[in-house]
Amino acid sequence: MQAVLIDDHFAAWRAASLDALSRGLAPETIEWRVKQAPESPQTQALFDCLEVTDIAPSPARGVQVSKELAALLRDAALFRDPQRWAFLYKVLWRWQQGDRTVASPADVDGARLTRMAKSVRRAKHDMIAYVRFRKQTAAAHSPEYIAWYDPDHDVLGWAADHFAQRMGRSTWMIATPRGAAFWDGSELHLEQRRALPGEHRGKTVDDAEALWLAYYRSTFNPARLNEAALEQHMPVRFWKGLPEGHLIPAMISEAKSGAQRVAQAGGVGALGGKSIPVEAEFAQPVRVPPSSLDGCRRCELWRHATQAVGGSGPGDARIMLIGEQPGDQEDLAGQPFVGPAGQLLDIAIARAGLLRAQLYLTNAVKHFKWEPRGKRRLHKTPGQQEIAACAYWLERELRTVRPVVIVALGATALNALLQRKVSLKDYTGAPFEAAGAWAIATWHPSFALRQQSDASRDKLLDEISNALRDARRLAEESVAPVTQPRRESPES
Ligand code: URA
Repeated sequence: MQAVLIDDHFAAWRAASLDALSRGLAPETIEWRVKQAPESPQTQALFDCLEVTDIAPSPARGVQVSKELAALLRDAALFRDPQRWAFLYKVLWRWQQGDRTVASPADVDGARLTRMAKSVRRAKHDMIAYVRFRKQTAAAHSPEYIAWYDPDHDVLGWAADHFAQRMGRSTWMIATPRGAAFWDGSELHLEQRRALPGEHRGKTVDDAEALWLAYYRSTFNPARLNEAALEQHMPVRFWKGLPEGHLIPAMISEAKSGAQRVAQAGGVGALGGKSIPVEAEFAQPVRVPPSSLDGCRRCELWRHATQAVGGSGPGDARIMLIGEQPGDQEDLAGQPFVGPAGQLLDIAIARAGLLRAQLYLTNAVKHFKWEPRGKRRLHKTPGQQEIAACAYWLERELRTVRPVVIVALGATALNALLQRKVSLKDYTGAPFEAAGAWAIATWHPSFALRQQSDASRDKLLDEISNALRDARRLAEESVAPVTQPRRESPES
């Protein structure tokens, strides 16, 4: 094992990787370590981004990567994960060995790389959208504007460059928990250090903030409050970084407890001509459906979830697996079936002769429903209304992926697929038609995990693997499903 010590940024990793590749060092022989007190990397070093041929400075070290892979590596390098450098090297190594599948989302590493890059791109977008600069009155050696922000990934350098190109010669600083960026009017300086918001706040900042808050309050019109649209455009998790963030809940609650009706009635009363009484709920603007899953407010589950968890897998997968809802670990990771149930499912998938990378995995409900139990978050089964609200997203996935075979894991998935409450037992054992595809119903892996004895757990695992084997056979045969009448239990 060889230790490679680098500064914690992309350019340092790239140089070290090229060196390691030229020496033929396989990923498993390297331990990537990051310098404890990183040098303050100059902007140039951070923005010295990878170009296709850049990575091959000399023919002796030649590694040509595609433009797409270069972009993925560059973005994934900003993903906060202590293993990122080792993982990126593994990707580069596989590519250099001629294994082009590593850049595909159908590959396990390719999927992880794509996920990382996607998450970083979202963090970049959010930072640009939600950084708020506050003006300070001039003081020697202090910037004219300051902002505080807590990004999800290491995107400070990227965002600072964005602002530097747009804010002219005004001087500013953005402080984050892990570092700060200063623009002195002509040059950008990045510092990796702890910078807390209180450190940079003086009376002048507080004055500017008071003014901004007074202005924000005065622009708020309770008559036009559309809470869903507000939360969709400015997600709750960003409120803490905005000066006006702490005002919003109180203003919403005041609006709800009367101010909205009063203001609406006042607005209507102020118009000339004949007055027509309007019920408050009809005076509300029409709510547009959310265009992205993360902004979904179709039911209340989003309020207590970390994030929405969408499906994952190839967009043209022949087999789609539907689970119930993300669990604790899926909620944190943003990926379906990565916790204990996912591990059992992986065994069943392997026994059926399938690869997870071939399958599209999703859930009937996309937000984690839970209740607190001590420090733990305990899974709660979603209700029929939540399943119905989330059907919008499942239908979209079914329309886009158009699987040949759908496997419903457990009763919730089956109810979501059939859009009504049925008994799982009536549907196990034989394929049937649903949503224009073959469908197979089987147990949810969590149900197998909950069994007390090894024997019953193994029995259920066998049944899940058999169902997946049937799915594989149907997908390979690719015969169109035949609708067959089915008898259901009276109680279903
Ligand atoms: N259970 C599910 O139904 N889905 C997941 O993604 C994880 C656990």
